[in-house]
Amino acid sequence: MSKYHVSLTRVMDDSYDIEIGRDLFDTLLHDLKNGLLENVSKFAVITDTKVQEYYGDPFIRKLSSSGFICDLFAVPAGEKSKNRASKAWLEDQLLSKAYGRDSCIIALGGGMVSDLAGFIASTFCRGIPYLTYSTTLLSAADASVGGKTAVNTPVATNLIGTFYQPRKVYIDLNTWTSLPIREFRSGLAETIKHACMQDYEFFVYLEQNMNRILTADRLILDASVCEHLALKNCEIKYGVVEKDEKESNLRQILNLGHTAGRAIETLSNYELLHGEAIAIGLVIQARLANKLGYLHEQEVNRITQLLALAGFNLNIPHSITPKELIDKMYTDKKVRSGKIRFVFQSGIGKVKQFDDGSFSVPVEEQIIYEILDEMIRMS
Ligand code: GLY
Repeated sequence: MSKYHVSLTRVMDDSYDIEIGRDLFDTLLHDLKNGLLENVSKFAVITDTKVQEYYGDPFIRKLSSSGFICDLFAVPAGEKSKNRASKAWLEDQLLSKAYGRDSCIIALGGGMVSDLAGFIASTFCRGIPYLTYSTTLLSAADASVGGKTAVNTPVATNLIGTFYQPRKVYIDLNTWTSLPIREFRSGLAETIKHACMQDYEFFVYLEQNMNRILTADRLILDASVCEHLALKNCEIKYGVVEKDEKESNLRQILNLGHTAGRAIETLSNYELLHGEAIAIGLVIQARLANKLGYLHEQEVNRITQLLALAGFNLNIPHSITPKELIDKMYTDKKVRSGKIRFVFQSGIGKVKQFDDGSFSVPVEEQIIYEILDEMIRMS
């Protein structure tokens, strides 16, 4: 018998910058001209049909007129495009235009686009570089930052994907003004989640400044508040990702509100936007945490009030039964040994670490049922 030891120790530096500002196409072009990426001769801009109209066409004109070889590929707008079929279609488009290892993908849009385009970049020719140009608060707060990429399956969201960091992220605050209020609000749920789990002062800031962000039916978007939101989201998220990029434990806390939230999003057939579902998931988490003795009732009320102040409808949709919701929670990626697991707050700005060191814990179905029944009776 013979044995050969493969020695493949990995030393990596995947560090990158996040540029937060307004109208950043020229900054991106400047970066490309100044050697941000080596050995890239073609750029595939991946976007959706809505973003194409506002930003995609002008961007591709700027890229071409600066001498870059580029093409734009657009999938229909909406979470439903984040699937394996779109990935295959885009890959075929890239191949038909002779994109290869010397290419770079630019994900231009919100979270659906960056998840899909980032996933393609991670597997196309075994991995090519990508840049993210974020055009929504939701993606600035979550999907475009942190290097998770994925597509959804009919069973559940984000089940197939990779960890693959972009080479740079651009967060264009001006794009937020073109968002429908519903889309913008959806991004606030991830922002509130960050405050709930890690930063009491930021939570208070949101309580005090929500009226400078939006009212019930109008975006206000005070410039300094927007910049603060973008920066705080990055600081809080990367405070976690830099410690546990591959989610061996700590990164689970970014899943706060997602055990129930993702299940609601899928069961609504994506009629609810991601953040709208996560807002309800955050309330379910808070009420469960209270029942289990981790969170005071006043804290649950404050969390619920902040989400209501942001304009979220916090009722579980009537079309979804508690049984369906619990069944769907079993597709959550935190499920271990057949048990549904939750991440819980242990205060405002704090998450609970359990005796075994884990930041998530199994919860019995019966307790979840009780909370869901309570919420449905009150709605
Ligand atoms: N969206 C959760 C994470 O990035 O880990």
